[in-house]
Formats: sequence, structure tokens, C-alpha cells
Amino acid sequence: MNKRNILVTNALPYANGPIHLGHLLGYIQADIWVRFQRMQGNNCAYVCADDAHGTGIMLSAEKAGVSPEDFIDAVNLEHQRDFTDFLVDFDIYHSTHSEENKTFSSLIYERCKANGHINQRSITQLYDPEKGLFLSDRFIKGQCPKCKAEDQYGDNCEVCSSTYNATDLINPRSTISGATPIEKESTHFFFSLPDFSDFLKQWTRSGTLPNQVANKLAEWLDGGLQEWDISRDAPYFGFEIPGEPGKYFYVWLDAPIGYMASFKKLCESRTDLSFEDYWDADSKNELWHFIGKDIINFHALFWPAMLKTSGFRTPTGISVNGFLTVNGQKMSKSRGTFIMAETYKQFLNPEYLRYYFAGKLGSNPDDLDLNLEDFVQRVNSDVVGKVVNIASRCAGFINKGFAGKLSAEISEPELIRECQQAASEIAELYEKREFAKAIRLIMSLADKANQYIAEKTPWVIAKENPQSTEVQDICSTGLNLFRLLVIYLKPVLPGLAKQVEEFLNVAALQWQDVESLLSDHQINPFKPLMTRVESSKVDAMVEASKDSLNTENSSAENTTTKVDSPLANDPISEEIEFPDFAKVDLRIAKIIRAEQVEGADKLLKITLDLGLNAAGEQQIRTVFSGIKSAYEPEQLKGMYTVLVANLKPRKMKFGLSEGMILAAGEGKDIYLLEPHAGAQAGLRIT
Ligand code: MSP
Ligand code: ZN
Repeated sequence: MNKRNILVTNALPYANGPIHLGHLLGYIQADIWVRFQRMQGNNCAYVCADDAHGTGIMLSAEKAGVSPEDFIDAVNLEHQRDFTDFLVDFDIYHSTHSEENKTFSSLIYERCKANGHINQRSITQLYDPEKGLFLSDRFIKGQCPKCKAEDQYGDNCEVCSSTYNATDLINPRSTISGATPIEKESTHFFFSLPDFSDFLKQWTRSGTLPNQVANKLAEWLDGGLQEWDISRDAPYFGFEIPGEPGKYFYVWLDAPIGYMASFKKLCESRTDLSFEDYWDADSKNELWHFIGKDIINFHALFWPAMLKTSGFRTPTGISVNGFLTVNGQKMSKSRGTFIMAETYKQFLNPEYLRYYFAGKLGSNPDDLDLNLEDFVQRVNSDVVGKVVNIASRCAGFINKGFAGKLSAEISEPELIRECQQAASEIAELYEKREFAKAIRLIMSLADKANQYIAEKTPWVIAKENPQSTEVQDICSTGLNLFRLLVIYLKPVLPGLAKQVEEFLNVAALQWQDVESLLSDHQINPFKPLMTRVESSKVDAMVEASKDSLNTENSSAENTTTKVDSPLANDPISEEIEFPDFAKVDLRIAKIIRAEQVEGADKLLKITLDLGLNAAGEQQIRTVFSGIKSAYEPEQLKGMYTVLVANLKPRKMKFGLSEGMILAAGEGKDIYLLEPHAGAQAGLRIT
């Protein structure tokens, strides 16, 4: 089979705020597809970047008191960390504020201009006279001209849903300075999209888009296209238009060009990739864009038109994801369902989410609901109950009775063959991005594997004779079935697959490995793979997301470990080994100060004495702890408690929290842990 050369891009997140679970839907979808392609042996480069330009970012940086460059650099690091945590495996994560992007943006603009597709004319817009800035609709608020509702944005009313022009608002004001906007004229540059009407009618129907999307676009195309305003006036954080001082490219002009720029940057460090092979007009390689449904017009109209006229190839395909809802509703900060990647990560394993998304994703841009109860149930019953369970049932017998050696002959050939033969159908479903269907098929195979083991009851035979070759045969077949399932799930659960590769003592699993089996093979001792999702963790995540209301840089105020509420009586957590526990450095600490934190609903700032270190220096720590509902600062002073002393410090809105103190309960019933009288500060708890 010929290897395909594929370049995959993901929509570039704005460098304006943290990654949330809604964003992650598209990134995880693309990552699964990329990992699948790589397992197939195809060359697949996966690029992304921060979308770093625009007024919003300029203002955010100003508010934070830093330069836009410093601001976007900091956000870039946070974004990269979040993507790494969720196992999104980009080859490069660049920025649109880069040399490469500047070069390509100018080049493409110049070519559009040379081909006669750039026009300029004067337009009138609302302007903030205090701030000295033209205002886009989202920076203007006023009374709705129809229903008179207060506080509505410049383009539409959230109360009566009517749409209007910002100039129609009653008593408009700039949300930046509060000033009353004035009308002001200036010259803008336009990309003449109507010139590409015929080309786009054909291109959008050529199999590049999901049908649903092509149909929607046909409505626009039939209604007639309009020129696209590609310039913004200074002050603006972006690239100045060549030869037009004070005029900048609108962020959406250089954003998709960022795909090329990122790839160009990647090519510098990779001898196996050549920019031209992927971007020349006659390129035979594939180019796939993964985007969300709100940005279709930018990718399926402006972008192919600009590429076409500037002599580059157009995309092979665009994959579009719908929007994420949580518990059937739009993500909401007050309900705690606007969940940041970072908050999720504090409570739950990212692979749970990857599995849940995969189990519901298809190739159409339908919205996807994350129902939190269903999430717990599905992950537990499928991944833990059906897949991991096979290994935990079989491994012990093989390790104890047969020194970790699998049988030389693998029994139950029919069941094994059935699982192997499913490979092509599962591959086809992955290829078409019908992940939910692929997962359903994989889980039906897992059911059969479990059924086989349940019928053979190796534990009954082993009770009589742990060395019975029958036990070895059953469990060897079980582990081979398990291995096949893990190959199929690897694009979705790469972390689990890696652990399994270690356990099974095999090289990184590839798709074609389904053709072989493990016989007469030495495996390693079994370590617990993926543990059950605990509902209490999901609840805690939602609570912590409520806390993040109005906190821009930190996702949770609450750093107190709450032992489960006595009323809820949650089950005891999964068993852990002693070394896992021993990693946690718990110390007796004396509270030397406790203070209110201005603007925090739940937190107290607590200063702790940890005694002397080896060098004889006093060790003092500050933590922010969510115990305000139950304690007055005065009460706490002088008390001894327990501190998790080796917890990585966490930057919060109010300052750095250097550890956690332990407490149980919720609300008014929070109980701080206190050692028996006489315990000295700094003593380690063992
Ligand atoms: N910067 C632009 C994209 C430029 S691409 C050249 C942008 N950024 S974004 O941060 O708002 O969104 C990044 C991606 O996340 C987009 O594909 C967007 O559709 C997707 N999503 C943002 N919120 C989402 C949900 N709530 N649900 C699903 N996808 C969501 O748009
Ligand atoms: Zn209204």
C-alpha cells in the first residue's frame, strides 16, 4: 500500500484565554484521526498555533499591564501545556505573530492585489473618541432598538434576538472606556470575494466538505457573495499592510495563513518534509483542516479563494465539529459547566474525556453533549469494565501460575479471527471520522471477549490447579483479545496503549500488528491501568469551575482537599500501592497567620510555619484554602494542621499557593485536620 502524505491543521485558538472543554472537542477529534493515520504507516504532520492578533488581545494585554508580545507568549505556554496534558500530539505549536506568517501574509496579499482582487474605499464606523479606537460590534453596548432591553451588544439583542447595526442602538457606549461612540470615516481594504463565486460553487461541492456544510454554503453562494473587509486601523495588534502605513491586516486574514507559517517553521527542523510538496498548486499530498462549525465561512470561502488566486493548493478536505454542550445546555459559568482544560486535569484523567468524545463523534457537525452522569457510566462500563477488566482478570493467573509466559498455541481461533477481521471495518470508520461507530464495533468485540472468559471461568480451574495449562490457554487467548482491542483503541487512548505496551512487553503497537498474535511470549507484571471515574471527582470539578467565575488566570480558588461529605458517603477510592502514597509529603504545620482575601468568596490566605530546614532556616509557606465558610481567620491562628508540602505551587488569581492544607466536608461543615497535641511543625507524616 502506498504511504499517504497528510498535513492536518486544527483551528488556531485565540491567545486570549484558557483552553476549555469546548475547544478540546475539535483538537481531540483531529488528534484521533492523526494518530490513526500514523498507526496506518502514513506520514501525517499535525500543526497548530495560537491566533495571536486582534483588538481583543491588544486590550487584554493592556489590562494585564504587559506588552502584547509578552502576553501571547505566556498564553502560548499555557495552551501548549493543556494540549500536552490531553495528549494532543502536535508536531509544532507556533504563533501567528511570527516572521513566517508575516512573510506569507504579505505574499498572499500582494498576489491577490496583483490579480485585481483588492479594492479600497472609505467607510463609516463607530469610534471611541476617548480611547482613540474604532469599535467592532462586541465593544459597543446600548439599549436594543426593538425591545429596549438594556446592555445589548452592537449586532444583536440577546433578549428579543433581533439583529441591527451598532449605529441603531439607543444610548450606545464603548465597553472599553464608557464613552459615547462617534461616527468616523476611514479607508478600508477589501478582498473581492464575488470574483470567486463560480470557483467556490464548484469547490464546495467537490467532496471537500460534509454535505450538511456544503448545503449551508450553497445558500450563501446562491444569495450572492459580498466583499470582505480585510483591514483594520491602528492601533491594532497585527501585521501592517505592505505599503499602507497605519493599516493592518484583519486578524482573520493572517489566521489561516498561520497554518502555512507553522508548517514552514516545522519544515526547518524536519528533513523529511518539504514545504513545496505540500503547498504548491499541483501538490499531490493531502491537506486537511479541522475546525468548529462557527468558522466555516472563513475556511470554506475566503481561504480557498485566496489560496487559489495566489497560486497555492486548496484543501483536500475540511472536517467540521459541532459545539459542545454540558448536561444538555450551553456551557455555563454559574452552573460550573464552563470547564477549563486545567480544571478538568486537576480532577480527572484526560483519556476519559477522549474516550467519551470519541464515543459520540461522527463526521457531521452535530453538537455533542457531555452528560456528566453518562460520562461516568460510559467510561466505567466500557473502558474499565470491558477492556481493562480483561487484562486484570487474566494477567494474575499468567504471572503467578506460569511466570508470565503466554501459551505457545493460542486457542479459540474463531473468536480471535473475528476480532482480527474487524480491523478493516474499524479502520474505514476511523478514516471517515465515524469514531462513534468505530467505538461501538470495538466494544461489541470486547463484549465477546468478556463473554468468552466468563464462560471458561479460569478462576474456578485455577482454584483446583493454578498450573493447569487450560488456565494458561484461556488467559493467553484473553490477553491476545485484549491486545487487539488496545490496538483498535490506541488512536483514542494513546496513554493507556503505552502502559499496555509495557505490560505486554511489546514495541509500540501499529495497526498492522493485528495480523500477528502473542504466543510463547513473556509479559511483565500487571499494574492497574485505568481506574474508574469517581462521581465525587466530577462533582468537585464542577464545584471548582463555579469558583472560576471571573477568575481569568486560575481555574479554581479552592485548594483545600475536601474529604467526601459525610452525607454523600461516597465509596472508598481505588486501592493504591504504598509507594504511591509515599510520594505525598505530608507535614505538620503551624498556622501563624490567616487573612481574608479581597474579592474571594471561599478563600482564606493562610501562612504556615514548617519548622527549620537542614540549613537551619525557617520554612514559611502561604496557601489559599477554601475554608472561609467555616472558619474565622482569628480562630485559625496558632492551630496546627496538615500540609501537603510537595504539591507543585499553583498560580492563582490572588497569588501563589504553595501547597494544600487538609480538611473534610463542605460549606459550614468544613473540618480542618488537627494533629494530636504536642506535634511539632515540620514533622513528616508517615
Ligand atoms: N482563532 C479562531 C480560529 C482561527 S483558525 C485559522 C477561533 N478561535 S477560538 O479559540 O474561538 O476557537 C478555536 C476552535 O475551537 C474553533 O474550531 C472553534 O470552533 C472551537 N470551539 C470553540 N468553542 C467551542 C465549543 N464550545 N464547542 C466546540 N468547539 C468550540 O475561532
Ligand atoms: Zn431586543
